[in-house]
Amino acid sequence: MFLTYLGHSTIYFGNNDYQVVIDPFLSGNPQCTMKVSDLKVSHVLVTHGHADHLGDALELCRREGVQLIANYEICRYAQQFGVENVIALNIGGTAHTVFGAVKMVAATHSSTLEAPDGQLLPGGLANGYMVDFFHRRFYHAGDTGLTFDMKLLRNKKKRIDIAFLPVGGQYTMDVHDAIIATKWLKPKVVIPIHYNTFPEITVSLKPLQRAYAKGKTRCKIMKPGATVRGSYEKKK
Ligand code: NI
Ligand code: MN
Repeated sequence: MFLTYLGHSTIYFGNNDYQVVIDPFLSGNPQCTMKVSDLKVSHVLVTHGHADHLGDALELCRREGVQLIANYEICRYAQQFGVENVIALNIGGTAHTVFGAVKMVAATHSSTLEAPDGQLLPGGLANGYMVDFFHRRFYHAGDTGLTFDMKLLRNKKKRIDIAFLPVGGQYTMDVHDAIIATKWLKPKVVIPIHYNTFPEITVSLKPLQRAYAKGKTRCKIMKPGATVRGSYEKKK
């Protein structure tokens, strides 16, 4: 299995058979060096309608066999632009996919969709995802402020392997709130996202690294474009 950080909130992982991208913001993402045409995907997950998350989702999902998982409003919007293969969820709902369960979980954020003519449309509720990719569990928080709802995501029997948490502030949690979220989630690894893409979300990760120097969570800072590999399918 591979896991690649494409910058901002764009997480790409998978194996030879299935490849998942969450919030595919490639075009216009100053941190992303990968072209949409080079991205091989089977499943696209979108956390909310903002352009830095919906990104290239529609283009990717118009490809044969690619499935979109998003909230109902985003799925309906995508269908109007030629996307056929969708699983529409709402908060608390789970999609049972070929690689495992994808559960839509709460986020505290907004979700406007911008139509090609510039019109702003309601994009449902913003959300996060708990994704089981075979035996690995990933939590992608989407854009969110710190919320007590995160406490519900901790499952002592099935620990989160990697939590992707926004840390840039202004539109989402900042590094200090992410430290609190980590205490509640107790994941094995935190990978910070949604920072340094734009001037207003430029931050220092030092407090984060300092906070995780001790304790049972490791902070892994991934450079945009970096990939980690491992035999993630095997149960330990
Ligand atoms: Ni947003
Ligand atoms: Mn955002």
